[in-house]
Amino acid sequence: MDNNVFPKDFLWGGATAANQIEGAFDEDGRGLATSDFARLVSKQERDTEGKFDEHVPHNASSSEMVADMKANPDSWHLPKRWGIDFYHTYKEDIALLAEMGFKVFRMSISWSRIFPNGDDKQPNELGLAFYDKVFDECHKHGIEPMVTLSHFDTPLHLAEEYGGFLSRHTVDAFVHYAQTVIARYQSKVKYWLTFNEINNVLSNPFTSSGVILGGAKKVSDGNPYLGHWQEKFQAVHNQMVASALTVQLAHRINPNLRVGNMLCRLENYAESTKPEDQLQVLFEDHFNWFFTDVQANGEYPYYMKRFFKENHINVEFAPGDKEALLEGTVDFITISYYMTYVMRYRGEPVPKPTGRLVSDIKNPNLELSAWGWPIDPIGFRITLNHIYDRYHLPIFISENGLGAVDQLESDGRIIDDYRIDYMRKHVEQMREAIKDGVDVFGYAWWGPIDLVSSGTSEMTKRYGMIYVDQDDYGQGTGERKRKKSFYYYKKVIQSNGAELDNDIKY
Ligand code: BG6
Repeated sequence: MDNNVFPKDFLWGGATAANQIEGAFDEDGRGLATSDFARLVSKQERDTEGKFDEHVPHNASSSEMVADMKANPDSWHLPKRWGIDFYHTYKEDIALLAEMGFKVFRMSISWSRIFPNGDDKQPNELGLAFYDKVFDECHKHGIEPMVTLSHFDTPLHLAEEYGGFLSRHTVDAFVHYAQTVIARYQSKVKYWLTFNEINNVLSNPFTSSGVILGGAKKVSDGNPYLGHWQEKFQAVHNQMVASALTVQLAHRINPNLRVGNMLCRLENYAESTKPEDQLQVLFEDHFNWFFTDVQANGEYPYYMKRFFKENHINVEFAPGDKEALLEGTVDFITISYYMTYVMRYRGEPVPKPTGRLVSDIKNPNLELSAWGWPIDPIGFRITLNHIYDRYHLPIFISENGLGAVDQLESDGRIIDDYRIDYMRKHVEQMREAIKDGVDVFGYAWWGPIDLVSSGTSEMTKRYGMIYVDQDDYGQGTGERKRKKSFYYYKKVIQSNGAELDNDIKY
């Protein structure tokens, strides 16, 4: 069997987000962001509550909670404020990534580090200088940075004063921010992503879009609150416009720059062979494709019209929006892929977004992670084919990974064979997809260094090949240790994906 399948310049690497690694939430002029108000929800707490759905209780989403977190920060655990201290350890951390042979490091810029309120006239030079240093460090090691402009950390001021992306004011502010950083770093960063998991607005409007449901003080465009879908779809429309304008401005700044989307890809299976279950798959798929259909094709797909009409959702297009979407289509597609979902007909003729990330119906053929996420490598091959079939654009895997509890041996080693197994199976299926003819140009493991979980703000949910000695409450030495998977990924990268067997010394 020919194992030399990956293109020779394939971008192997890993992905992180500013709010989950940087810490230093109030240093060097950084302003507050929505992520600074994400509270710790431990597994123990969730188990006690009997909940498996991680994306309901964890984030502050009302103005009351935010107000209390501001007034009494010490009575809350807000781990994204300290992250893993990457703000101070970036040199050491990037050197470790380089030791694994990384070709790409997907990271994000904290918007409120550059513009503390999100909409300031002048950028914060200290914030800009930090990312200069990070990008220089990457290049020193031959690593290409790939940068997400907004990864679940909308500046708090924009959320509180304008309802985040409900307002066109936030669109203007975002475009100004994008213009500033893209122009500044154009010679250091070629690949840009606009909004992380843009579809997350359905489950998580506060962190991803700055929308405080029912709580924003002022909505400059006067958009009435007709219910949460109205708000969510209006906010995401505004984000898609901001994204399209960013694609255009990046190309104007430098035609060599490439801008991609980022979708949390939800691949769905029917629970049975009943046509109705398959119909439910179609509905759910539409809610997932919608975002990328707009970002890649430049217009709203036909299938949303019925949903909008029957649910009285009126997405307001400002003059020029239609043209902006059409002229600002993305250069490549990126997805996060973690799991697949099972669909059962809900008995309704039109789809409704669930806003849930972990499906309630279990797939008996799949194992679950310790956090209840079904592990499905073949689903990865299927989804890559579906995406390529639909868009015929190059694909970059911006996230794939396994959150697990790691055990520290008495000799200090972390023997994470489960993580190696997960990676091997997913890389094998990506290889099959490439053989199928899918154009995949890179793969970023989520959280190559342990970081604060997005969904629950835990450290216990570890993704890394690099262990960070820190617990859910920020206690620990912060020391970094190489796990067994560190050497596995190194071998995968060195062989350009040709050697995937588990045979490594540790
Ligand atoms: C994606 C996000 O949803 O999944 C990341 O883009 C996140 O920010 C990752 O960390 C894994 O989710 P979690 O909740 O396990 O951290």
